[in-house]
Amino acid sequence: MKLDTILFEVAWEICNQIGGIYTFIKSKIPAVMDVREDNYYLLGPYFPETAKLDFKPVAVMGECPVGKTILRMRDMGYEIHLGYWLLPSSRPLVILFNPDNSLIDVNQVKATLWNDHQISSIRSDALTDKVLAFGEILRIFFTTVRNFSNDEQDLIAHFHEWMSASCLPQLHKDKIKIATVFTTHATVAGRYLAPNEYDFYNRLHTFDIQEKAAHYNIEAQTGIEKAAAQNANVFTTVSKQCASECEIFLGRSPDSIIPNGLNFQQKFPHESFSQHQKYRGMIDEFVKGLFFPSYHFNMEKTLYFFTSGRYEYRNKGFDITLKALEQLNEKLQENDFGITIILFIISPRPHYSVKADALEARSRYQHMQKLCRKISSELGPRIYASVTHDKSSGLPDINKLLDDELIQDWKKTVAGFKQKQLPAVATHHLVNEDAITDFCRSTGFDNSKNSAVKVVYHNEFMERATSLLGMDYAEFVSGCHLGIFPDLYQPWGYAPMESIVLGTPAIASNLSGFGQFVQANVTDHDAQEMYILDRKSQSDEGAAYQLSEMLYNFTRSFISNQFIPRSSIKNTAIAKLCWSEIQPRYEEIYKLAMMRSQPASNLY
Ligand code: GLC
Repeated sequence: MKLDTILFEVAWEICNQIGGIYTFIKSKIPAVMDVREDNYYLLGPYFPETAKLDFKPVAVMGECPVGKTILRMRDMGYEIHLGYWLLPSSRPLVILFNPDNSLIDVNQVKATLWNDHQISSIRSDALTDKVLAFGEILRIFFTTVRNFSNDEQDLIAHFHEWMSASCLPQLHKDKIKIATVFTTHATVAGRYLAPNEYDFYNRLHTFDIQEKAAHYNIEAQTGIEKAAAQNANVFTTVSKQCASECEIFLGRSPDSIIPNGLNFQQKFPHESFSQHQKYRGMIDEFVKGLFFPSYHFNMEKTLYFFTSGRYEYRNKGFDITLKALEQLNEKLQENDFGITIILFIISPRPHYSVKADALEARSRYQHMQKLCRKISSELGPRIYASVTHDKSSGLPDINKLLDDELIQDWKKTVAGFKQKQLPAVATHHLVNEDAITDFCRSTGFDNSKNSAVKVVYHNEFMERATSLLGMDYAEFVSGCHLGIFPDLYQPWGYAPMESIVLGTPAIASNLSGFGQFVQANVTDHDAQEMYILDRKSQSDEGAAYQLSEMLYNFTRSFISNQFIPRSSIKNTAIAKLCWSEIQPRYEEIYKLAMMRSQPASNLY
C-alpha cells in the first residue's frame, strides 16, 4: 500500500466513552500510528461536554484535501472541530462533527435511506436521528475529500459499529472512490434478543429478524447495520460467535474475524504485586471513609470484587453477579469467618449529583488520619516530659497534655466521622432507581454491619480526575482482588481481559468472545487465575449457583492461605493479544479493501 494512503477510522465513541469500542480504539491508536504517522484521522461526533475532557483543538491548514474539506464545510455552515485527542501514550488527529445542525434535514436522509436502501427509519428515536445526521455530514465530508484529492490519492474509511456507518451504503451507491471497511462489534439484534428471547444462541436460525426488529423497534439500527455489512468492501468482526450472528442476521459472513487487542506494553506496565498493594491502599481509604463512620470491620480480612460495563443488566450478567453474591453472603454468614467482601459495580447511570458521603469518604478518612498523626506527634514528647517531671508511675491524663484547639478539632472530626445511617449502595443520587438498586433493596443488601457482602454501586466511569477514589480504572482494577463478568451477550468483552492483563484474577463467561478465546487457547487457565463460568449449557439459576461456588472457593482459599493470587499472562496466548501483533491483520484488511474498491473489481 502506498505510504501516503489516508486512513480514516470512524466511531461514535471517539472522544466519547460509552463502552468497549472506546477501549478498542483508544488502545489501538499507538500501533496504527507506528505505521501511519500523519495519514491517519479519527472521526467522531462532537459533544462539547465529553470533548472538553481530552480534546485539544488545532488550526486547520488549508493545503491538504482534508484541510480544504474542513474549511469548505465550515463555510457551508457545518460545525467541525479538528484537534488532538490527548491520550497518555499518543496524540492522534481527530475530526469531530456536531450532529446537531440545522443544515441537515433528517427527514430527507430517512427518505433516501428508504428509497435507495429500503431501510425504514420512520420510527427512530432521538439518538438514531443524531446518528443519521452524523452519517449525512460524514457522507458530505468523504465526498468532498474525494473531490479535493487527486486521482492517485488512496483513501480508506474504516467504520466501527452501525452508529458510525449510516453513510456507507450511500457512498457505495454514489460510487465514491474510497475503500470501505465495516467492523461490527456486536449485532443490534443480538443485543436485544439475547436477554429477551428464550434459548437465543440455539435458536439463531429460527428468528424472523424483520418481525423481531419491528417488535423491538430497532428497524433503523438493524437496517443500517445490514446495509453497511453488505456494502462495505471488507466486513470484519471480533469473535466467532458474533460472526455467526452476522451470517444469519446481516446476510454476510465476515471476511475476517480479528480478536481484540490491548496495548499492554505501554498502557499497562509490568504487573507487580507491589502495584496491587499500592492501589489497594487507595481503595482502603475510600472504603474506610465510607463504612467506618457507621461501623468497623477487619481490613486485613476484606476482599474487593468488582464488575463493570455499560448498564445492560442481563447482557452484562449483573443479575447473575448479584444473585451469586447473595448466595455467597449466606454461606459466609453461616460459617462466620469474619470476612468482608465489597462488591464494586462500576456502571455509569443518569444521576443528579454525587452523594455527600461518597464524595467526602476519602478526604474524611485522610483528615482523621492526619489528625491522629498530629496528636501522636504532639503527645509523644509531652508524655515523656510529664513522666520525667513528675515521678509518678501511671500514665498522665491525655486531655491535660493536648492544646484546647487540638481537642476541639478532634471532637469535631469524630462527630463528623460517626453516623447512624448505613452507607448507601449507590454512590450517586440516581434519576431513576434501576434493577441493581431494586435487587439490593428487595434482598436486604443494605450494607448493614452483619452482612458479609457489601455493595458499592459506582455510577460513573472511573477516571482519575473525577473518580471518588482518586484513581483511574486501571489503577482501581489493579487494587482489586477479583473481577466478575458472567456475561450473557458479549461479542468480545474487554473487562475480564483488562483485569487479567493487570494481574487481577477474573471470571469470564463462556458466552463472551474473550471467554471463548481463553477456553480455546489457554489450557491451564484456572492456574493462571482466569476462570470460566458456564453460561452456555445451564440455566440462569445454575450459572448463579456455579458462580457463587467459585466465589466461595476463592474466598475460602484466601482464608486458608492468607494469600491473594495474581493472574499472569506470561507464556499464554493472551500475550499475543497485544495490538502490535493484531494491528497488522487490519493492515492486511486495508489492502484487501483497496483491491476490492478499484473500479476493475466488482467483488462488492
Ligand atoms: C462492543 C461489544 C463488546 C466488545 C466491544 C469492543 O461493545 O459489545 O463485546 O468488547 O464492542 O469490540
